[in-house]
Amino acid sequence: MNTIRVAIDGPSGAGKSTLARAAAADLGFLYVDTGAIYRTVGLSARNRAVDPGDEVAMAKILPSLQVELRYDGTGQQRMYLNGQDVSEEIRLPEISRYASAVSALPVVRAYLMETQRELARKHNVVMDGRDIGTVVLPDAEVKIFLTASARVRAERRCRELEGRGTPQPFEEVLRDIEDRDFRDTHREAAPLRKAAEATLLDTSAMDFQRSLEALLEIIRERTGL
Ligand code: DC
Repeated sequence: MNTIRVAIDGPSGAGKSTLARAAAADLGFLYVDTGAIYRTVGLSARNRAVDPGDEVAMAKILPSLQVELRYDGTGQQRMYLNGQDVSEEIRLPEISRYASAVSALPVVRAYLMETQRELARKHNVVMDGRDIGTVVLPDAEVKIFLTASARVRAERRCRELEGRGTPQPFEEVLRDIEDRDFRDTHREAAPLRKAAEATLLDTSAMDFQRSLEALLEIIRERTGL
């Protein structure tokens, strides 16, 4: 059976993961958060005191890393690093910077490619990331580029961090988002960009419910579901 693949790309804080997870639940598809995979590799760099921008050093540790996605009883994706559940730890702001650095390395991207493609061969997926529609699943049935203004994204991230009990000042969060946007769009390996055939969805002026409806509408229109 051919699977249905929904690729959602966009900058950090655009609400991709929350929206993609909700859309996947609505459709009965598997939700794959690829950022969590890069975060797990970023965490391993920090744990081993390896410079996350050092391609040679990272290439050396990759073979010893066991990065696994597992789904718990409620269908939530959990990340395991060498058998240990790191799902909460990878959300620390410090790990965002490590993830961004390791994700710029071609050796890391190549190493994680097959894991992502295999999931999409076996399941109907809603997969979110930065290069899903452009590189990982170039033949995806549906491609969406989900974005919002940097300020709106920073406001949303602030609320999320507060909810997690790790609040940060707005200006710091905004600067972090702008820095990451710059790195993610200017790196040589699979830079963040909208695939020509992707549908643009800007949620700056939309609340969660409206964004989800718009997202599902695009998916239904493209797949006939
Ligand atoms: O979406 P996120 O913030 O959890 O992603 C963490 C980092 O990983 C971010 O800097 C971009 C990078 N990333 C990537 O390069 N490619 C993906 N498919 C997903 C995330």
